Amino acid sequence: MKVILYMAMTVNGMIAGTDDKTNWLTKEEAESYCSIVREAGCLIVGRRTYHILTKQPEFQEFNNAKLIVVSHNDVRLVDPSHAVAHSPQEAVDLLSDFREIIVAGGGILNASFLAANLVDEIFLDIEPVILGAGIPLFKGQSFERDLKFLGQKMISDSEIQLHYEIVKENSYKG
Ligand SMILES: NC(=O)c1ccc[n+]([C@@H]2O[C@H](COP(=O)([O-])OP(=O)(O)OC[C@H]3O[C@@H](n4cnc5c(N)ncnc54)[C@H](OP(=O)(O)O)[C@@H]3O)[C@@H](O)[C@H]2O)c1
Repeated sequence: MKVILYMAMTVNGMIAGTDDKTNWLTKEEAESYCSIVREAGCLIVGRRTYHILTKQPEFQEFNNAKLIVVSHNDVRLVDPSHAVAHSPQEAVDLLSDFREIIVAGGGILNASFLAANLVDEIFLDIEPVILGAGIPLFKGQSFERDLKFLGQKMISDSEIQLHYEIVKENSYKG
């Protein structure tokens, strides 16, 4: 089983504005995101992202994907097929039958997964935007991880996708 973090971010590492706005994300980026989720058949998101994602039009694309929301508390689920996990490890355990698991934000959840050493690979879609303030890719925990570059591709004429593997041997740096 492989855990893949998939995120779009500005050139300076923001995944949303301070008001949760992500209006700089493009149709091509949404298609790339939906396609990796459809292929994996499952998705893990944090409680704040869940409430935003389930109101977005592309959410219809995830009808057949198993969706896990991570929260310390109970969450009002918008569909009975969704499930709540109380930690990143519990979320992964709930999806242990899947070959690939997609983790898709937000910043607090991403940091929890990295800190728990649960991520194997990262895809980053780099958007041609700089935000002076907002929500960073990783938020609220301190850690350091080494990456191995696996590849890159253009997902549109202005967006590059970077692909990395987390180097596990060096990953216990606090
Ligand atoms: N650009 C992109 O690709 C992208 C993708 C996804 C999201 N986003 C943006 O990211 C923003 C949301 O990010 P965020 O950092 O504010 O919130 P978030 O990570 O989506 O959700 C945070 C919540 O998740 C739960 N959680 C996280 N780690 C946990 C852990 N280890 N154990 C138990 N529960 C845990 C907690 O819920 P409780 O408080 O309920 O305990 C926490 O308050 C939104 O603006 C969204 O649009 C952007």
